[in-house]
Amino acid sequence: MKLTDIYTRVRDRVRLAQEHLSDTSQQAGDMMRNVIDTFSDEWIEQAFSLARQKIAPSVDELPVDFQLRQSSMMRRIYERLFPVSHVFRVSAKYGREYLEEYMPINNSSYIGRGSYKFVYSLPYQMVLKISKEILPSDPIFGSQFRLVDAEQSRFLGPEEIELQNILSRGKKSYRQERIRFKFNRLGMERLHYWRVREALPDLVLPTKYFMGIRYRNKLFGEGHSEKMTVMDSQIMLMGKHLKEFAMAGKQSHQNRFWKQFSPRFDFVFDSGRFGRIKKKVLIKITEDFRRLIRFTEMLAVRDKLILDIHTENVIITLPDFELKIFDFHLFDEHLYEPSLKFNRPEKDHIEVIEKFIESLNLQQ
Ligand SMILES: Nc1ncnc2c1ncn2[C@@H]1O[C@H](COP(=O)(O)OP(=O)(O)OP(=O)(O)O)[C@@H](O)[C@H]1O
Ligand SMILES: [Mg+2]
Repeated sequence: MKLTDIYTRVRDRVRLAQEHLSDTSQQAGDMMRNVIDTFSDEWIEQAFSLARQKIAPSVDELPVDFQLRQSSMMRRIYERLFPVSHVFRVSAKYGREYLEEYMPINNSSYIGRGSYKFVYSLPYQMVLKISKEILPSDPIFGSQFRLVDAEQSRFLGPEEIELQNILSRGKKSYRQERIRFKFNRLGMERLHYWRVREALPDLVLPTKYFMGIRYRNKLFGEGHSEKMTVMDSQIMLMGKHLKEFAMAGKQSHQNRFWKQFSPRFDFVFDSGRFGRIKKKVLIKITEDFRRLIRFTEMLAVRDKLILDIHTENVIITLPDFELKIFDFHLFDEHLYEPSLKFNRPEKDHIEVIEKFIESLNLQQ
């Protein structure tokens, strides 16, 4: 084949891929607009203003399991030396960055962590999640991230784009890229949220994403060190993780390598641990879980996206016994790390949920 032919082929392929990206970005953006129209910011603000009037519940009512929230030794030493102090939301006003919404946090208000966020309770009934710094090579930055990068204005508000421009002014290009990366991450988090929210509005916790600045006390002297990162806030849930409803049973069938490095357990659920629950309530939660399973399957098959609903990402509220989803991360199928037990990655999570449904013994 001639060199010019190869060139033309590659050029056409790149052009096709770009067109596809722009179409998908348009569709995703339109979808978000639709959802924003139905569940406006006003709706979220209303839910939040009620939560702000209530004092935070006690720690034993929260879905925290010390095993789940424990940080490494090094991390705990770091947190002691440089304790977090407070957070502000940062926006753009009067042609410059502008701090608002003071949110006090400290080491004792730390209630959980995942792979991507540190979670703190606020003094009122809300949580604040501070995104961790992660490398651009992380699996979370897949096709959804690229959609945002291709057309930021569909996923970020005009004020957020203005803030990005203000912060980038006069900076070297690598600094500008880092700033854009953070704003793309903000848009991506929001896109994940809206996709789940559109499908399962009543199971999803209202979530507000924003760019924030986190302050830590300095080791010596007065003042703070600060870091800008993506944050979000939600109503604080009271209840238990799906994981806590499970009693670890026998170890799953795995090969020696995985047994050593990532042991897994087959769960046996014991829903009776939390008192007698009315059959009507159990039927409702089963239906909700089935909707979650259908949506997860549809996303995986149609869009090749994996919703990360592992047992720490699903909370059952107590005493109402309702299913709530608060973590909406979507991964590209080829970037998601499966257990290798099934032929499809989403089945790992679906199987655990099905076991939970079975354990409710509704068929009797
Ligand atoms: N709204 C909430 N109310 C109470 N606790 C919460 C809430 N949101 C999160 N948590 C706690 O914080 C933990 C981590 O939160 P989250 O799952 O949002 O972080 P993540 O880094 O995205 O997690 P993952 O590792 O699953 O990606 C949860 O498992 C839960 O224990
Ligand atoms: Mg999580």
